[in-house]
Amino acid sequence: MTDTLTEYTDLHARGREALLHEPAGGDPDKLTLVRASGSLVWDDTGKEYIDCTAQAWSNNLGANDPRVIEAAIEQTRQLTHARPTFHTPALLELAELMVSIAPTGLDRVGFTLHGSMAVEMALKLAMRNRPDAKHIAVLHDSYHGRSIATMAASWPHPGNVFGPLQPQFLRLPRPDLYRPRAGLTAEQDTELTLGLIRDILVKGTEGPVAALVYEPIQGNGGHNGFSAPWHRGIREICDEFGIMLIIDEVQTGLGRTGAMWASDYYDIEPDVLVFGKGVGGGFPLAGVLAKRRFAKFLAGDDQLTFGQFPISIAAGLATVRAVMADDLCTTAAEHGRYATDRLLEMQRRHPLIGDVRSPGLMVSIELVRDRATKEPATAEAHAVFVRAQERGVILGESRYAGLGNLIKIKPPLDISRELLARSLDVLDDVLTEVEAEYGTVGVS
Ligand SMILES: Cc1ncc(COP(=O)(O)O)c(C=O)c1O
Repeated sequence: MTDTLTEYTDLHARGREALLHEPAGGDPDKLTLVRASGSLVWDDTGKEYIDCTAQAWSNNLGANDPRVIEAAIEQTRQLTHARPTFHTPALLELAELMVSIAPTGLDRVGFTLHGSMAVEMALKLAMRNRPDAKHIAVLHDSYHGRSIATMAASWPHPGNVFGPLQPQFLRLPRPDLYRPRAGLTAEQDTELTLGLIRDILVKGTEGPVAALVYEPIQGNGGHNGFSAPWHRGIREICDEFGIMLIIDEVQTGLGRTGAMWASDYYDIEPDVLVFGKGVGGGFPLAGVLAKRRFAKFLAGDDQLTFGQFPISIAAGLATVRAVMADDLCTTAAEHGRYATDRLLEMQRRHPLIGDVRSPGLMVSIELVRDRATKEPATAEAHAVFVRAQERGVILGESRYAGLGNLIKIKPPLDISRELLARSLDVLDDVLTEVEAEYGTVGVS
C-alpha cells in the first residue's frame, strides 16, 4: 500500500516537472482531479470538493451528466471524426437547435472547439463583410481568449512579448459601475464613455471599423457589468457607423445569467454572438451565431480539421437539450437571487466585501481593504480562496486579470440548494478568519 502510494506520488511529481505550463516547483494550490459528478469533484487523495467554478464556468449542466455521457459514447461507437467538408446527423440537429434558441435574427451557426477560435471566427467574418476595414474595436479590460489574435483583443498583458505577431485592435474605454471616473456617478460615467467612443470613431481612426466586440459582463476582466443605456448606446453607435456588433457570450451564455443568453437578459441585439464553454457539457465546443446577411465565408475561410468534432457536437446536442428540458435558466435565476441575498447580508457583517455582483449564477464579490478608497484586497482574496479550498469548496479567483480581488461563485446551474448554501457558509466562515488575520476593520 505504502509502496503504491509512493510510486503514485513520484509519478505525479515527475509529471508536474514535465509539464510545459507548470511553474518551477509547481503551484501548491493546484489539485489533481480524478472524478466529478454534478457539482462535486474529487482529488487524487479521495477528498471531495464543491466546485463553485464549474471548471472554468463550463459545466453549466453539472459534470458527467448521464445524458451527455451516453450521447458521447454512442457517437464514439458510430463515428469519432469527420472532415469539415462532411456533415453528421448530430451537426445538422445541433445547428437547427442553436438557431432556434438564439437571440432574434441570428439564424446561421458555425462550430469550432474553443472560445478563442470562435472569437477568431467572428473576427474573420467581420473582415469578410468589411474587407476595406482597418480596425476591430474592443473594450478596455475585455477578455476574448488566448490565441495570438484574441490575446491582442484582450486586456493589455503586462510585458507582452507576443506583440510583433499580433494584430492591432482599437481599444475603447468602458464605464465602471463600481469605480466610475472621478467625480462622476455610474450613469454619468456611462454617458461620458459613450460620448468618448463616438469621438474616437469620428476623429481617432483611419478607415472603417469592421466590428466592435464586447462581453455583456466582462468575465475575466473583473465581472464588470454595464447598464441598459450602455447596451442601447453601443447598438446605436454601431448602427450609425455601420459597425458589426459582436457579443462574446462564451462565459455568459447558455443560462449562466438566468436567461439563455445575456443578450436576452439585457435586451442586446447582436449581429454576431460567440458561444463556448457550457455548450459542450464538458466537451470542447464553441461557435458563432450570426445574422444571415453576414454569412459570407468563402470555402476554406474557417475550416479546422477537428472544427466540427462529432463527439463534441453530439455532447453539445445532449447538453443544450438537457439545459432546456431541466429549465436551468429558471434554476440559475432562483439560485442567483438566493446567493446574492445571502452575500448582501454578509456584506453588512464583513467589511472586506466591497461589492456584490450578479445576475443569475454569474455571482462574485469584490474584496476591498477600505470601502471608501476601494483599495483592492488582493492578498486577502487569495487567502479566502486557499482556505475555502482546504475546507472543500473551490471558489473562483481572479488571478490573471482585473484587480485580482474578486471571488467568484459560479457553480453548475443545477447545483442543489443544499450544496450552494454549504459553499456560502464556508465562505462566510473563511471571511471571518481572513478579516481577523489581516486586521480588516469596520463596516462603513
Ligand atoms: C468571454 C470569453 N471569451 C473567450 C474565451 C476563450 O475561450 P477558450 O478558453 O475556450 O478559448 C473565454 C474564456 O475564458 C471567455 O471568458
